[in-house]
Amino acid sequence: MLRTHTCGELNTDHIDQTVTLCGWVDTIRDFGQGKFIDVRDRYGRTQITIGPTSPDQVKQVVEQFHRECVVQITGTVSSRPEGQQNRKIKTGEIEIHAQQAALLNPCQNPPFLPSQSEMPNEDLRLKYRYLDLRRKEMQQTLALRSQVTKGIRDYFETNGFVDIETPILGRSTPEGARDYLVPSRVHEGEFYALPQSPQIYKQIMMIAGYDRYVQIARCFRDEDLRADRQPEFTQLDMEMSFVDADDVMGVIDGLMKKLADEILGIDIELPLPRMTYEEAMTRFGHDAPDLRFGMEIVDCTDVAAKTDFRVFRGVADSGNFVRGINAVGAASSFSRKRIDELTTYVQEDFSAKGLAWFKVNDQGELASPIAKNFEADHLAEIKSKLDANPGDLLLFIADSWDVSCKALNGLRKKMGAELDLYDDQQMHLSWVVEFPMFDHDEEEDRWVAKHHPFTAPLESDLEQLKTEPGKARAQAYDLVINGYEAGGGTIRIHDSGIQQQVFGLLGMDEQQARERFGFLLDALKFGAPPHGGIALGIDRIVMLFAGLDNIRDCITFPKTQRATDLMTEAPSPVDQNQLEELSISVVDKEK
Ligand code: AMO
Ligand code: AMP
Repeated sequence: MLRTHTCGELNTDHIDQTVTLCGWVDTIRDFGQGKFIDVRDRYGRTQITIGPTSPDQVKQVVEQFHRECVVQITGTVSSRPEGQQNRKIKTGEIEIHAQQAALLNPCQNPPFLPSQSEMPNEDLRLKYRYLDLRRKEMQQTLALRSQVTKGIRDYFETNGFVDIETPILGRSTPEGARDYLVPSRVHEGEFYALPQSPQIYKQIMMIAGYDRYVQIARCFRDEDLRADRQPEFTQLDMEMSFVDADDVMGVIDGLMKKLADEILGIDIELPLPRMTYEEAMTRFGHDAPDLRFGMEIVDCTDVAAKTDFRVFRGVADSGNFVRGINAVGAASSFSRKRIDELTTYVQEDFSAKGLAWFKVNDQGELASPIAKNFEADHLAEIKSKLDANPGDLLLFIADSWDVSCKALNGLRKKMGAELDLYDDQQMHLSWVVEFPMFDHDEEEDRWVAKHHPFTAPLESDLEQLKTEPGKARAQAYDLVINGYEAGGGTIRIHDSGIQQQVFGLLGMDEQQARERFGFLLDALKFGAPPHGGIALGIDRIVMLFAGLDNIRDCITFPKTQRATDLMTEAPSPVDQNQLEELSISVVDKEK
């Protein structure tokens, strides 16, 4: 070993011992007759003192030290002089009087310092990821991530699950994003698809009788990236046989309680609260509502229909919706200018046509440029529906169900953050259940699976599947944490008749279904047990547990918004012979 201790280990118990430390030079401070050098590693940092009585060898070698170079120091552990202790760090009561020093490796002038107080620019952080990963915050997040995966493995092991690996080179899977394809050299013109999830394999494992499957699985989806999405991400993926939705949610309830307790020291009450999809959309406008605060959406379509305000009346008469939220106490802090900004926000981000608003003045009256279009009774009715009091700001969107949900969810989140309605340390976990089976693709006028084509309908909605597929609900459940979808799963169809019916609704005839999932359809005929499961996004859970708002900060080597790795410069062109071997030629789409 090149060292006797780490840089986070020494304290007053070690006084007078001779020790050897290795690490990176964090800071060098000159004082009159010598230097203080902080040497840092993953465990902490330790102050090295070089003074007038230090050996010449030490004095000469440390002249070559620069920040971030790698050094080895041997010396005696001593207590720091009175007044110089730093009680904020574990090693703050001691220092090392250096007797020998070595420069193990120099460091070029770094583009940023791991211990600098201001956050370096993200592109630089990603390009020089090794320097970024030296930052304490990154080390803490990756340590937390390691705790999360260990907690998951322990929990599932204890509960009788078998950890099973599934292929990365496989066939296209059904999660609905674009696939990443890998060309086959052996089979000219044929491709593997990287798994969007291990969905089909885990269902096969149930048919194979493994009963309880779990895997921490890497998934690949070529989709538009956002702060909570990466092209390559990690799922906790599980599947169980002979279960219903309650059983699967029960297992995840237990897992989340354990993780929150062990990692955050938070006690979560079980069972986690549940809300149907319909209720979530009605009350919060989103299927993953942030339930750390209220500010629920209130439907005022009935009042709107009675008013003379052209916009409200027109929308109500056409069968659309007038819904609003009460931003309690926001009237004084939201000037006309800020309200105009909110209007632009809902118009640009959600294609809303406008934003109608009222401020409740000190007399309790609703004040707004549009107030003159309303009779006093109607204003009173709106006020009472939104439980409005002096100082409140009421915001309304009159539009289709879809636009009003999206715009009000956006406004609600923005106002919740602006008005400081929740504590960043707070964790709110809940389930949203009974999602619709299908979404309607308006452009192509066809049904698409909301989850995936193997999702079972609620038994009570089997009839609806035939008559009104848009109203049929699924045995589907999403885990929601602080307004993020942290996980999603379903009970699967194990009846081939229902499966055919669902494929039919999705516009897949028997032959197309066979082409895509023939092997699963075959397997389902060989004695498939009723089964279901779920996958949780580990990157998102780590992000939420670490109190971060960007998934890239929870992944060791993430991709940028444009799906590139700035450190390795992937993706990159490849040699012409590599392409030829794969029978691939690159066409210029611009030409
Ligand atoms: P789903 O597609 O809902 O379900 O994915 C499950 C969870 O994975 C996370 N997630 C992502 N995280 C980061 N980047 C992404 N691009 C990304 N996409 C998804 C989310 C999401 O809730 N096979 C089904 C599960 C099942 O039915 O058992 C599936 O993959 O947190
Ligand atoms: P207008 O009569 O179009 O000038 O609109 C009057 C006010 O109503 C403006 O503040 C608009 O932003 C608002 N408004 C217009 N359309 C809508 C709508 N669909 N929903 C909510 N507010 C709207």
